[in-house]
Amino acid sequence: MRTDPLAYLGQELESLKEQNLYRHLRILEEEQKAHTTFDHKSVVNLSSNNYLGLTTHPRLRKAAMEAIERFGVGSGSVRTIAGTMAIHMELERRLAEFKKVEAVVVFQSGFAANAGTVSAVLTKEDVVISDALNHASIIDGCRLSRAAIKVFPHKDVDAARKIIKDLPADQRKLLITDGVFSMDGDLGPLPALCELAEETGCIMMVDDAHASGVFGSQGRGTVDHFGMHGRVDVQVGTLSKAIGALGGYVAGNKNLIEFLYHRARPFLFSTSHPPAVAAACIAALDVLLEEQQIIDQLWENTRFFKAGLVFLGFDTSDSESPITPVIAGESARAMTLSDRLFEEGVFAQGIAFPTVARDKARVRTIVTATHTKEDLQFALDKFEKVGRELELI
Ligand SMILES: Cc1ncc(COP(=O)(O)O)c(C=O)c1O
Repeated sequence: MRTDPLAYLGQELESLKEQNLYRHLRILEEEQKAHTTFDHKSVVNLSSNNYLGLTTHPRLRKAAMEAIERFGVGSGSVRTIAGTMAIHMELERRLAEFKKVEAVVVFQSGFAANAGTVSAVLTKEDVVISDALNHASIIDGCRLSRAAIKVFPHKDVDAARKIIKDLPADQRKLLITDGVFSMDGDLGPLPALCELAEETGCIMMVDDAHASGVFGSQGRGTVDHFGMHGRVDVQVGTLSKAIGALGGYVAGNKNLIEFLYHRARPFLFSTSHPPAVAAACIAALDVLLEEQQIIDQLWENTRFFKAGLVFLGFDTSDSESPITPVIAGESARAMTLSDRLFEEGVFAQGIAFPTVARDKARVRTIVTATHTKEDLQFALDKFEKVGRELELI
């Protein structure tokens, strides 16, 4: 009998179990919304990135269904062969207008946008200067580019400056940060980084996945929030989180976007969005422009929930966004906190090493515009109960 050549994977899984790092997928049995059912249990959902509740917004549903009726369910090709539909071009045009840039290219995901862009614009002669907590898709893009990777401590602009000053002046350099850091909910120091990029001739890039639809006027992101229009060369956004559907995009000047049309590998080698997804994203832009009250509600809920956690005495780190971590320490403690909250009717995902530092395991909470005050107060009451049980407060 043939021995299983993949047997070592089973051993790896056993080792994850021993370290309490093995994860079961929670199964969502209805719509992605603020109060929903996972694993047969009705819960207040503090784990999705559905910041504005757009996954179930009637205007997005309608646009997606109409697009299916008119254009079918798939695009049938990569963008560069037969898969560029008029609706893809319309989405890119609308996004460029929204972001106040010359042009936009849409990718299948935010992950593909980051990885595809960094790997396309850099070569092995170049260097990336990257925040220590930047997203995995940026790290993968850097690796694929084969450029040298220099990591600066989280948000430490002086350390980034020192790295850059030690590099040859004529070497091409990309300075890159997340706009909102996904595990801590804090903001990248964009104004200081833009200044540094200008001072040293770096390409400036920001990954605004968690800022899209959340920060800046009408959800235009951190570049708008900090008044940095025209000073960031490459802006990545996602259509998968606040925008409620799926996809990622790069916003910049025409040369950048045309170059990515020719060289970004996910654009060249992976099928484009189904038309319904593009239509839903266009409808989401209309919602951002016309329904400001949803964004206002997101921020009101965020302030209420954060203040509640702080009042209870939890360590919520330096979050400035609707993402609020509740630090528990070791991974086992964070996982117990998450499991106990789930039993009590609150879904807040536990996050442990290697996603975050070993002693900074946490549950991550994300408030949305569609949580009611009752939902949030219910969650706070459960946090208080379980937090006391585990002696976190
Ligand atoms: C900071 C950051 N960048 C990029 C992405 C990838 O976005 P998407 O889910 O659209 O692939 C994520 C999502 O997890 C993220 O948190």
